[in-house]
Amino acid sequence: MFGLIIRIVTKKTLVIFRYFGRPKSFLVLLPIVWALVAFGPAIWWLAVETSRHLLLPSPPTQSLEHYRRNRSLHYYLDDIQTLIEPSLLPCTTPDEMVVLVLVASAPLRFDHRQAIRKTWGAHLPTYFVLGLQGDNIDEQLVDNYVEGKQYSDLIVFDFHDHYQNLTLKTALMMKWTLHRCPQAQFLFKTDDDVLVNPWTLRKVLNENEDTLLLGYNKRDSYLHRDEYKKWYTPRWMLREDYVSQYLSGTGYLISGDFISKLLKNAYEVPMVNLEDVYFTYLVAYRRLGLKLAHERRLSPYKPWLKASCLYWDLASVHSMEPDEMVTAWIKIEQYGKLDNHSDVCWFYNTYLRDFSELALY
Ligand SMILES: *[C@@H]1O[C@H](CO)[C@@H](O)[C@H](O)[C@H]1NC(C)=O
Ligand SMILES: *[C@@H]1O[C@H](CO)[C@@H](O)[C@H](O)[C@H]1NC(C)=O
Ligand SMILES: *[C@@H]1O[C@H](CO)[C@@H](O)[C@H](O)[C@H]1NC(C)=O
Repeated sequence: MFGLIIRIVTKKTLVIFRYFGRPKSFLVLLPIVWALVAFGPAIWWLAVETSRHLLLPSPPTQSLEHYRRNRSLHYYLDDIQTLIEPSLLPCTTPDEMVVLVLVASAPLRFDHRQAIRKTWGAHLPTYFVLGLQGDNIDEQLVDNYVEGKQYSDLIVFDFHDHYQNLTLKTALMMKWTLHRCPQAQFLFKTDDDVLVNPWTLRKVLNENEDTLLLGYNKRDSYLHRDEYKKWYTPRWMLREDYVSQYLSGTGYLISGDFISKLLKNAYEVPMVNLEDVYFTYLVAYRRLGLKLAHERRLSPYKPWLKASCLYWDLASVHSMEPDEMVTAWIKIEQYGKLDNHSDVCWFYNTYLRDFSELALY
């Protein structure tokens, strides 16, 4: 069978070669070459343009102008009111609370919040932090009010919800924790496209009781100087082109005892739009001289190989769409429900874990 296919292919190729060897073959070749030369660039241009528009719907609007007026975090925070809070506050009992999870979400990302509520959010004290967005603020507030009433897990602040305002959002999380939940041993700051594994997170917490700041340490990063990049930072905002290390904003832990120091020192450091670079590099590392511990399990990546043990191993997985999160959660919960976790994934732990980063992207 295979031999037959080879024979047919060779025969056809020979026929084609023989054809173009003939004296009159240029009559056919010439128009083909001519068409390629004439339309080639046009087709190429069309392909590039289409793919550009498909991949990047429109260049992000950069509105960093308000940072030119005042970059004092204090100045902004003083102005921002809390509009909606959970009716059942998480920290009403005087008991110590190991971790409080605050998730940066946005008003319209209801699906992301639902996915979290249905999965890992049910296993940890989890609250969503939002600002205000869009043209119809009143309508949004009514929606959020109803949602907050139903789930008692929304915290809405009176500021413009925008990814360039994430620094404000993170600062508001810290301020809120100080006021409402001072007994939390740790604040875990994460995003609504992150899948958290509560069992692995608790393990990470147990092993790091005395750490002030813990996350995935990203080394040697260059800042984006291209305006069309989402994470663009202009030179007037941050002079250096390069950040030697910072903890990825997809999920980092701040010790409860450290929050007030971190926030107070941030008041002395001009704000930048990258919240993780700001709090972990500029304030913690540069100003306070803190050593940034690296925790590979607080991963900013996700497995391309959908193996249960890869999910089980990590405390966080990033870039998850709501349905992906629900699917991956099934694997995590299967192991989580076992009474004894010490034998879970022993083969992976013994032989494969050292190579696990190869399966992440
Ligand atoms: C920015 O805000 C701070 C704190 O409120 C204030 O002291 C400072 O004068 C303000 N700077 C400008 C340029 O308005
Ligand atoms: C960030 O929030 C402040 C306060 O609400 C607002 O003045 C500013 O325009 C917001 N920035 C963006 C990019 O939306
Ligand atoms: C869990 O399993 C391990 C290994 O099988 C065993 O050594 C350990 O005692 C078990 N722990 C509990 C609490 O049952």
